[in-house]
Amino acid sequence: MDFAGQTVIVIGGTSGINRGIAEAFAASGAKLAVASRSQEKVDDTLTALKEAGAAEVVGAAFDVRDPEAVAEGLRQFHEALGDFDVLVSGAAGNFPALTSEMSVNAFKTVVDIDLMGTVHVMKGAYPYLKRPGASIINISAPQAFLPYEGQAHVCAAKAGVDQITRTLSMEWGVEGIRVNSVVPGFIEGTEGARRLAPTENAHEEIKQDVPLGRWGTTQDVANACLFLCSDWASYISGTVLSVDGALYQRGSGKFGQMMGQMLRAQAKEDPK
Ligand code: HXC
Ligand code: NAP
Repeated sequence: MDFAGQTVIVIGGTSGINRGIAEAFAASGAKLAVASRSQEKVDDTLTALKEAGAAEVVGAAFDVRDPEAVAEGLRQFHEALGDFDVLVSGAAGNFPALTSEMSVNAFKTVVDIDLMGTVHVMKGAYPYLKRPGASIINISAPQAFLPYEGQAHVCAAKAGVDQITRTLSMEWGVEGIRVNSVVPGFIEGTEGARRLAPTENAHEEIKQDVPLGRWGTTQDVANACLFLCSDWASYISGTVLSVDGALYQRGSGKFGQMMGQMLRAQAKEDPK
């Protein structure tokens, strides 16, 4: 895939899956902008993106929960790199917790980062999206359409993200902007996977349950994103694409219960 001359913005692009996506666009010759809360992670990522082949790189540290900071960061990216061809919105926070056990602020924190953060990013980028031709990808999760105990906050937030994808594919589609969601499977070596499958046993069980027989890689997710942002996908918009080795065809199954069982057992051992 050749993205030479194109401007690609990856919000939450400084680790894990999103950084893998940014690196893949860099290797395809794009101009890259990345943002997350940590300036240190931003700086480290910019060095890696240059090494991967990015034509130009720029970064900023901001929190997606702050709409003004997001808008200002995106304005600076536009000033440096021009109109946006690609916007990837992937900042997210997650921790396993039963709803009865978490504070209202804990629930709200995840909704604020995952759902409202996506709103802030999309609205902040809107003035700078190339028309026609821009492609937006929201990074979603299976929790958007499968219920998992201990994940009600993420389930609620990511379901909202996918509905924003579908709705804005219509509202912004008339301006020639495509909007899609990508749902990663369990992706090897990432923070999200570490939090939800912290033991060797859980890692192995997931592998055995994936019909294609292996964990996903950040490159698997990046490949799908590059395709969706290419001319090959010029008529694809409003879609939610799973990149999961068919794991989610099985529903949430035992993983839907696993965290609830674990958290209830912990609460019994350590009553407050
Ligand atoms: C219960 C918790 C908690 C936990 C935090 N809180 N961790 N409650 N169990 N394990 C509560 C806090 O007590 C507080 O509520 C509120 O949440 C906010 O916590 P802070 O630490 O002040 O928030 P903040 O510093 O803003 O950090 C946000 C965060 C953190 C989400 C809590 O974990 C983070 O920064 N995460 C980013 C990285 C990440 O999560 N990556 C994985 C993404 S994977 P009170 O009431 O005390 O104020 C993903 C889906 C993966 O999204 C799907 C895989 C299949
Ligand atoms: P990760 O490494 O923790 O990536 C999260 C990124 O978002 C980091 O760059 C983080 O950097 C940034 N971020 C977090 N909170 C932020 C905030 N409030 N403001 C700005 N930036 C923020 O996690 P990951 O596991 O790779 O997950 C990446 C995406 O894939 C998420 O959207 C997640 O829901 C989705 N996903 C992951 C999996 C998986 O297997 N890992 C499966 C399904 C879906 P800072 O800490 O510097 O802010």
